[in-house]
Formats: sequence, C-alpha cells, structure tokens
Amino acid sequence: MPKLISTAEEFIPANPTLNSLREVAAGCTACDLYKRGTQTVFGEGSRKARVVFVGEQPGDKEDLLGRPFVGPAGQLLDRALELAGIEREETYVTNIVKHFKWEPRGKRRIHKKPNALEIAACRPWFEAEVQVIKPQVVICLGATAAQAVIGRTFKVTQRRGEILHDVAIALAVMATVHPSSILRAPDEEARRDEMTKFVADLKVAAAYIRENVKRAA
Ligand code: URA
Ligand code: SF4
Repeated sequence: MPKLISTAEEFIPANPTLNSLREVAAGCTACDLYKRGTQTVFGEGSRKARVVFVGEQPGDKEDLLGRPFVGPAGQLLDRALELAGIEREETYVTNIVKHFKWEPRGKRRIHKKPNALEIAACRPWFEAEVQVIKPQVVICLGATAAQAVIGRTFKVTQRRGEILHDVAIALAVMATVHPSSILRAPDEEARRDEMTKFVADLKVAAAYIRENVKRAA
C-alpha cells in the first residue's frame, strides 16, 4: 500500500553524524518544497552545543547562502544572544523546515508559512540533529517551531520565556518569539520594546544554562 504521508524519516542514515545528515539532507525530496527552494539549509554549529535554537524555515538570504540565520533575523538573533550573554560557540542553530517556502511578489520572494504536512515531513531532520547533539536546552523561535516541538496547542504569547521540563527532546525547552516578528514591529519604539522582551527571555535561558548545564569536556 502506498504511504499516505511521505517524511524525511526514510532518508535518515543509520548511526548519523551531523556531516552525514547534512549530506543526505541536501538531496531530500520528502516534500515538494525542494522544488521551490535553492537548496536544503541544514543546521549549523558545534556538535557539542548544549543549546539548540530552532526557527521556522530559512529565509531569502539563507536560501541563497545555504546557511541558517544569516539574514536580517539572524543578525538580530546574534545581537540578542550577545546582550543575553549566550556565546554563539555554545549554540547550534537550525530550522524545523529546511527549505525556503516562498511566493513571488514582483521581483521579491515573499516568505510563506510551511503547512502541517511540510512540517511533519521535515521534522525527522531536526529530531536527528537533536539525537546527535543531545543538547540540554532547546529554544524554539516562534510559534511554528514551538508548536512542532512542544505541542500543537502551545501558545508562545502566553508561555514565552518559561523553562519547560516536560518536553521529551531535552532537559529544558523554552519558546520565545521569532526574531523576524521583532523586525516587523510597526515602529521604532515597538521594535525596541520587543527586543527588550526577547533579550529578557534569552536571559532566563542564559541563567538556566549557567546554573544547570555542564560544559562539554
Ligand atoms: N528565519 C528562520 O526561521 N530561520 C532562518 O534560518 C532565517 C530566518
Ligand atoms: Fe526534505 Fe524538509 Fe526540504 Fe521537504 S523541506 S524537501 S522534508 S528537507
């Protein structure tokens, strides 16, 4: 009987390493998004990272460069990490969906939210990344990642910044807003305000890491 849902599960190599996952993911065709994006944008960072950040999907710049969080949202994330006192070297950044989904608008490519089938298709890559890295903390950026990782009814607006201990993938899981939402704030004051709240959430994670997370040898 043909399978009703295709997922990346069938692509995951046995005894994966980050390198083998990255290589195989480059040829993933588990959902239709590979036809639209330029390339698979796999996660990036240390195999020994104790903290994994997971966003929604690569954006325009990420799609072209093949690296996660290198566009405007990534720059904002970098700045926020620095303000919160989280070292970039101790993190690994990735996305729950690894191809850029977009629609043309004039000459621009406009980001389009991935749907439930695409998220389900791609999630095995994220699960494999987490199994290899075994981070102690996972931080979900935005509702798409939070709902995929924590649960479909999870509300970031209500529970942002909380350390959750009841999510199986890591000792501690936190969700906060997506950095793109800060860039979309209506004016400069709102943007500053949102940035302050974002950094405050990351500081909660930073404190948790300082107090509870052992450094990799
Ligand atoms: N937004 C994301 O969710 N991920 C990226 O890699 C870039 C922008
Ligand atoms: Fe594979 Fe994910 Fe790309 Fe879909 S979005 S083709 S599941 S890597």
